[in-house]
Order: sequence, then structure tokens, then C-alpha cells
Amino acid sequence: MRAVLQAISEELARLKAEGEQVVPVSEEAIAGLRALVRARGGAAAPAAPARTERPAGAAGTSAAVAADFAAFARQPAARAAAPAPKLPAAPPAKVLPPAPELVLPVGDKALRWAALKELAAKNPVCAENLRPGKKLVLGSGSLDAKILFVGEAPGAEEETQGEPFVGPAGEILTKMIVGMGLKREQVFVSNLVCWRPRSIEPSGRETPQAAELAYCLPFLRAMIEIVQPDLVVALGGTVAQALLGERFTKIGEMRGKWHDFDGRPLMVTYHPEYLLRAVSKKSKRSVWEDLLQVMERAGLPISEKQRGYFL
Ligand code: URA
Repeated sequence: MRAVLQAISEELARLKAEGEQVVPVSEEAIAGLRALVRARGGAAAPAAPARTERPAGAAGTSAAVAADFAAFARQPAARAAAPAPKLPAAPPAKVLPPAPELVLPVGDKALRWAALKELAAKNPVCAENLRPGKKLVLGSGSLDAKILFVGEAPGAEEETQGEPFVGPAGEILTKMIVGMGLKREQVFVSNLVCWRPRSIEPSGRETPQAAELAYCLPFLRAMIEIVQPDLVVALGGTVAQALLGERFTKIGEMRGKWHDFDGRPLMVTYHPEYLLRAVSKKSKRSVWEDLLQVMERAGLPISEKQRGYFL
């Protein structure tokens, strides 16, 4: 039963990662889920009137629960389609000034990196968007890295420490990097947006708005110009869309393929947060296959053991 609930939640996470905002759910499907929750001993909300008869006493047994689930999984799309639920109103679209033109001084990487941090620190729009007492987050890692990872925007831990990917998603990212036979210090990790966004998706997830992505893009371009990585890895659909513009369709179609960002190879994969929710081997293997391609292209050695992870 746990496995069924896990499978449902992973499927929803996968759909969300692919950009689906709304999943129509029929009354029967909801009844099936209620039965699952009841069978786990949870307090389910009162059930909708049953549409199918069941032998007395069968409700709540694992056979009945499996039958409920199988029934709603088999529902033809037309029956499953219910009016889309009303979502909470989206936050007002942010309006920001045009993206800044960042001019870096001539010099070595360390000097240019210090100059970029200074430009960010003095930028009034960055300052306005920062929460009181919190820090801007640009990037961290080796300025000579071959691989540069790009995430979306800092979260609570990141804005406190001023470092990207130091919270729960960061733990996953670090595991991915270590799986590739590297240390965090050997790659460069950055974000598209330098401050923690205030907009919240209906799911409760913080998400940057288009204006924030556009405003901060020059900072990412400057980081890439300084580090000069062999390749860039976009973590998640929001980042991939911001970097690929009209070429972006769906994360499920873009991931695992090579694209081009400003003349540099760009690999798209799922965001580490997706792996926080979708823990199946299949999800991990998908991301891992993308990273195997990154390793190959970066000329990193790949052992048989690494090739077989999550199979
Ligand atoms: N998610 C991101 O995209 N970036 C971070 O730095 C942390 C979480």
C-alpha cells in the first residue's frame, strides 16, 4: 500500500517536473485514495457516495484497496477528466528594471570573480530583493571547473550562508557530484537568480518569476565567462527554459540531450529537488544517465560500477 502511495506521489512529482500544473482527478479516483488512506489507519475525509458495489466487509482490505486503485488507474481519460480545480491567485507579476550590463575588468579569474561579487553587492535591485540580514548567492567552487551546474534560486539555508545548494537539495547535488568521482570544490555551482524568491507556487514551492530570471541572467553569463567551463548543466525545467528560450518544450523532452547555451554545450537534467520527492531507482537512473553523458563529454573516467548505478 505504501508502495502504491509512493508510486502516486512519484508520478505526480514527475508530472510536475515536466511542467504539468494541474492533474484532473475524478470523484472515483478520490474515493480510491480515501480508501487507501483509511486502510493505512489514517483519518480520511468522508467518502463520496460509492458508485460500485463491493462485497460487505471488503472495504479496507488490501484486496479491496488494490481493486480501488486498479479501477481508478484504468479509468478512461474522458471519465477521469473533471473540471480543473481553482488554483490560488498567482502573485502579481514582478516588474524589474532592464537587466544590468555587467562589465568585468581585464585580469585573472580571481580578480574578475571578485569584481563580479562587488558588482552584485552594489546592485540596488539585488539589494531591494534581499530579505533583511540575508545574503546574495552567486556561485561557489573552482574557477577552473570543467563543469558548471546552474540551479534556480537560493532557498532559506542558501540565503543565510550566502552559498548555493547548501540545503536539502544541495545534499542531493553533492551526492550526484561525488557519484561522478568529483568533489564539490572541483566543479562550479551557481544559480540563475541571486536572491531567494518570494513567489510561492500552489504546491508551496518557492519559485522565481520571469522578471527575476531575466534580471539575473547577466550574472550567470558573467560567471560562465569567468570560469569558462567546458560544459554547463541546467538543473530543472525553469533553468532550462530560461537558458533555451523558445527552444524549450518540456523538461521530459529536453533532458538527457545536448543543447547549446551561448555556444557552450548544455545538458539539461531534473532539479535535485525532484529527487528529494521521487526516490525511485527509475528517477535516479534518469538523472544518472544524464550525468554519465556529462562525464563522457568532460572526459572523466567512468568505471563499470558507475555505469551500472541505479540499474
Ligand atoms: N535550489 C536551487 O535551485 N538552488 C539552490 O541554491 C538551492 C536550492
